[in-house]
Amino acid sequence: MSAQRNDQNRRLAAPDIAARKGQSPVVCLTCYTAPMAGLLDEHCDVLLVGDSVGMVLHGLPNTIGVTLEMMILHAQAVVRGSKRALVVVDMPFGSYEASPEQAFANCSRVMKETGAGAVKLESGPEVAGTVAYLVRRGIPVMGHIGLRPQAVLAEGGFKAKGRKDGDRERVLAEARATDEAGVFCMVVEGVAEPLAREVTEAVSAPTIGIGASAACDGQVLVTEDMLGLFDWSPKFVRRYADLKGEIATAVRGYADDVRARRFPGEAETYFSVPKDGQ
Ligand code: KIV
Repeated sequence: MSAQRNDQNRRLAAPDIAARKGQSPVVCLTCYTAPMAGLLDEHCDVLLVGDSVGMVLHGLPNTIGVTLEMMILHAQAVVRGSKRALVVVDMPFGSYEASPEQAFANCSRVMKETGAGAVKLESGPEVAGTVAYLVRRGIPVMGHIGLRPQAVLAEGGFKAKGRKDGDRERVLAEARATDEAGVFCMVVEGVAEPLAREVTEAVSAPTIGIGASAACDGQVLVTEDMLGLFDWSPKFVRRYADLKGEIATAVRGYADDVRARRFPGEAETYFSVPKDGQ
């Protein structure tokens, strides 16, 4: 647990994360459920209820089909399951792009119904006015630039930035517009070095990288990726566990025991006359 997390007995808030620019790295993981929130809370500064929940838990091919109601249900669970980390809720595709008023109505609903401390919007020059509108009305906003998963259909896939002509100007413009709109931090996704470093140096808000090198002010990963729940994960993921293997071993053991009538045993059985005083 970092010194920043020890000194106050309260949940972290957006200004605590904003103050980390140039200080110690911000630790962020995605989180969608109460039990996982309980496990991650003491180790993380930020729990991100990402719209990746659609792909990770609901089997969707991308994040386009994720609804506001799905985000609210998962965010409620994460807030209930955690005590210390800042909970940030991703605004799904279609919930904020139409107008600042639409964005405010949906973001304020998320804040009221979940108790989360902030929202995240995929951002750039075209959304900057909306971000500023929300921030001026008291909604802490995390930006998201670079590879923006909600643009997957328009871009024809999930494409890393910083390797093609024009990427540098576009990503820097997204970063500056997002920063000037008043976000307390921004996710920088799929941005190659040295552009990720340039972005981090160009903005006053902390950058939280995912596939955007060690130059960022913090890091985020999809928890299920880093725990090794899937066969495939992107190049930028480091696997800290082999949960898929552990689950397969456990479930195989259970299935073998049931088939061989080794489960349940006496220890897992209720008896009308209790044995050994149990
Ligand atoms: O939806 C999500 O989980 C995200 C992270 C990958 C940054 O946006």
